[in-house]
Amino acid sequence: MQWDNWRLLAIVSIAGFVGLLFGQMMTFMFIASFLYAFWLQKSWNKLLMWLQKPKVNKSPSAEGAIDEVCRQIDAIYKQNWARKKRLGGYIKRFQAATSALPDAVVVLGEAGKVDWANKSAKSLLGIKWPRDSYIRVGNLIRDPEFQKLLNTPLTDKPVAIVTSPLDEKLQLEMKIVNYMGNGRLLIARDMTQTVKLQRMRRDFVTNVSHELRTPLTVLHGYLQTLTEDSPAEQWQSALPVMRQQTERMNVMIKDLLALSQLETGQKPLNAQPISVAELLNSISNDARQHHNFKQHTITVEILSEKLLIVDSDEVRSAVSNLIFNAIKYTKPDSHIAVRWLVDEHNGRIEVNDDGFGIDSHHLDRLTERFYRVDNSRSQDAGGTGLGLAIVKHVLQRHRAELKITSTVGVGSQFCCCFPLSKVIDK
Ligand SMILES: Nc1ncnc2c1ncn2[C@@H]1O[C@H](COP(=O)(O)OP(=O)(O)OP(=O)(O)O)[C@@H](O)[C@H]1O
Ligand SMILES: [Mg+2]
Repeated sequence: MQWDNWRLLAIVSIAGFVGLLFGQMMTFMFIASFLYAFWLQKSWNKLLMWLQKPKVNKSPSAEGAIDEVCRQIDAIYKQNWARKKRLGGYIKRFQAATSALPDAVVVLGEAGKVDWANKSAKSLLGIKWPRDSYIRVGNLIRDPEFQKLLNTPLTDKPVAIVTSPLDEKLQLEMKIVNYMGNGRLLIARDMTQTVKLQRMRRDFVTNVSHELRTPLTVLHGYLQTLTEDSPAEQWQSALPVMRQQTERMNVMIKDLLALSQLETGQKPLNAQPISVAELLNSISNDARQHHNFKQHTITVEILSEKLLIVDSDEVRSAVSNLIFNAIKYTKPDSHIAVRWLVDEHNGRIEVNDDGFGIDSHHLDRLTERFYRVDNSRSQDAGGTGLGLAIVKHVLQRHRAELKITSTVGVGSQFCCCFPLSKVIDK
């Protein structure tokens, strides 16, 4: 600014001096000021044009303020350009990485409209970006399972196996996850082989269980008759054991069939609001009649009046298993605490005991079929190792989770954690 002032002063002074020689000092000074103002105006106009189209127009070169403004703008421009180039590089690398992903990734915008999709989305879901931009994903994938998944609250971590809209042999595991606040990401993975193997295993178990049922019933019937018909002495001790074992096999087959029914979802879920207090009190009363029940004490604490929307029969069988386990795997004078509460994350049915406890390395495998911690103790208690697998499947069907914590010699805590969407006021 200083420089501009001095320059104006010098021009006006020189013009005044020359004007003095001609006896027209004021006129010369006025003309010089006017020309200077005109020149400045032109430079500002040039600056404006350069700002509007920096690539087409030349930047004005004038000493002083305009030059300084040009230099500053130029520096900012170069800085932005470098940043843009860097960001462009990141985006290219991100796009290349997501294109290489075998899983389909679709970014869902407002109202479930497609914002962006990677290459695999085209081969797995038939969604092509940018062709399908701004189309609702629900209009592109019509499978009812997918529609259900779309309407499931994200807090329930929705996952579903959906048939691909492109090829009905393709089975996809679809997930919707939350990102950056309220953004939604649809991820689909090809699970055709896994689903096929799972189906084969399930069918095999179901068929074998069905086939075993009839011969076992016949065997059990004959053993019963033989026991009642006062058998020969050498059979008197053997027959009750044989009958007991066939009964065990019967229970096992019943459990295996129940498990495959839960897995296949053959039986629809009959979800109704239920009073957890009534359910827990009724199961606890049944547990007191259980043959393993000795001098145990069972306390039921109801810390919430809220109801739970679940299939009452299924949840009854799950919680019964937890409470019967607590009786089976504890000393006769142990205490079992059954609790219903609702916190800010879940509705929780807890079954806590002060029994033998379970070593931490078993915890992850506890819900596997036939997995038992201590075979001899479990066998003594008449267990087959299917109970917790049933609990897990029942809870999965309700989008709930089984959480187990345990300390050897101190006791175990089993929690059925239901999402808040399954909890309602009375
Ligand atoms: N409350 C508990 N305390 C200690 N161990 C437990 C407890 N609950 C379960 N377990 C262990 O976990 C194993 C698996 O339990 P699960 O209910 O699946 O099978 P089970 O009780 O042996 O047989 P089933 O329930 O089919 O009659 C049990 O064999 C037992 O070793
Ligand atoms: Mg059990």
